[in-house]
Amino acid sequence: MLQHFLTGLEFDKAQILKLLKLAQNIKSQPKEYAQALAGLSIVTLYEKPSLRTRLSFDIGINKLGGHAVYLDQQNGAIGSRESVQDFALNISAWADAIVARVNHHSTLTTLSEHASIPVVNSLCDLYHPCQALADFLTLQEVHGDVSQLKLAYLGEGNNVTHSLMLLAATLGTDFVAVCPKGHSPDAQIVKQAEQIAAANGASVMISDRIEAAAGANALYADTWVSMGNNTSLEQVKQTFMPYQINQALLKQTGASTVLHCQPAHREYEITSEVMDGKNSKIIQQAQNRMHAQNALLVSLLNPNYV
Ligand code: CP
Ligand code: NVA
Repeated sequence: MLQHFLTGLEFDKAQILKLLKLAQNIKSQPKEYAQALAGLSIVTLYEKPSLRTRLSFDIGINKLGGHAVYLDQQNGAIGSRESVQDFALNISAWADAIVARVNHHSTLTTLSEHASIPVVNSLCDLYHPCQALADFLTLQEVHGDVSQLKLAYLGEGNNVTHSLMLLAATLGTDFVAVCPKGHSPDAQIVKQAEQIAAANGASVMISDRIEAAAGANALYADTWVSMGNNTSLEQVKQTFMPYQINQALLKQTGASTVLHCQPAHREYEITSEVMDGKNSKIIQQAQNRMHAQNALLVSLLNPNYV
């Protein structure tokens, strides 16, 4: 059956746990999976810049014996030279999957409606589900059973927050987003996460008070200004500085793990002292992008390997 991965909610708890297990297997026994995508071509399409996503997909697909084709905007936005529908129909005629980083979630839904191959969201305005897979793979490696954890996100409520919150809810991790007033995550997505969390014995909390992060096992940061927003970090610094992840906050909350999806702005959302310190699992987290995405691609394209 044709399966897309647009929000992450396409997979239930058991399926996500299976995916994380597969990611661990691919990571520990890469030779076993060296042909898992042999003969398959995956178009990776970008409307926004990327370092980690572009390289982790490209190199990851190569390690599975597949072929990644990079497609940028070619000096024109997707949907301007021809419709998104025709884009999807043409790419489906040659390739085996589309991985797309887009400005608007609606571009992904249109692609998925017309593509006859799986479409994977590699970041949009609302979600970053591949990132969340890598984040939970990392938390699992560091802490074991993630259903026993409390995870605190600090900063702007955004695409990364949404995907982290939804996956936390799915996996039974207690989640708190601590964001300045006026920067909370999307209310509809919070409501959805609360319902999923309740079914999995977990909680979702949104607060502007830093005290809400007390007792968290892990702290998580993202940029205060996302791609496509022309506001400078200096302009928002005063609002967000109380939410910075620094040594004092680590001590105050008692957290032992620090994550950041990157790109990071040192001395803004996180200090260098913490980013380079012993609690930081940020590079392990970046590395896990590749393993988590490889597990996802194998599950979507070659379930014989799962
Ligand atoms: N975390 C992440 O998606 O990084 P890039 O924007 O560099 O791909
Ligand atoms: N929230 C950030 C994530 C970057 C990986 C952005 O959308 O720019």
